[in-house]
Amino acid sequence: MKRIIAAILATLMLVACFAGCSGKKTLVMGTNAEFPPYEFVDDSGKIVGIDAEIAQAVAEKMGYELEIRDMKFDSLITAVQSGNIDFALAGMTVTDERLLSVNFSNTYATGVQVVIVKEGSDIVNLDALEGKMIGVQSGTTGDIYCTDDYGQDHVKQYDSGALAVAALVNGQVDCVIIDNEPAKNFVKANAGLKILDTEYAVEDYAAAIAKDNTELLDAFNKALAELKAEGKLDEIIKKYIPAE
Ligand code: ARG
Repeated sequence: MKRIIAAILATLMLVACFAGCSGKKTLVMGTNAEFPPYEFVDDSGKIVGIDAEIAQAVAEKMGYELEIRDMKFDSLITAVQSGNIDFALAGMTVTDERLLSVNFSNTYATGVQVVIVKEGSDIVNLDALEGKMIGVQSGTTGDIYCTDDYGQDHVKQYDSGALAVAALVNGQVDCVIIDNEPAKNFVKANAGLKILDTEYAVEDYAAAIAKDNTELLDAFNKALAELKAEGKLDEIIKKYIPAE
């Protein structure tokens, strides 16, 4: 009996080792995988997208295994601060306010906050947003800027961009303010929507890393610079954002 138990234990340890002892350390990325083409869940249930592939390439350069954890966008900064994740890569905009809580890597992409409306909407420009109901993803820059500019009573927060867009389709909000590339994806997926030809805000995306983890910040920036120089970064972006 003892021998059987020992054998079972040994097998269990071996299995655990195959799962976790590849000899490499793991880098944990946090994201909110509801933001195509930067991060989304594909048909097989895997988190893919520009950020997922950049993180994979960065981890490989650093000699790490990558693990991706999906969470709400508005819990990412806290997860970085508490050390629950090593970094957040989530189409996240560098802002002065966030810089009080975390460090940001060098930027790897530009985002533009745009306005999605129903075709035929009387919202034709930013001025026409006054007094309207705006849908946003909670905790995003779209949320923060709109709340500042148009007042809390005019902003409805949703857990994801897709839910905000669904609310627009159902008539619960008059427009959605969100980053341009996800906006294009959402408009493609829903008939009768369009993006206004106006830029609400232009921003830089970067990885958020804990203030005290300057070692990771430096290594991340070094890997990112190499990926840029090798043309790998462009390649990843072009794969998900085909030239128009
Ligand atoms: N760029 C915006 C921000 O940083 C939105 C990012 C949302 N990202 C996501 N994965 N849901 O606030």
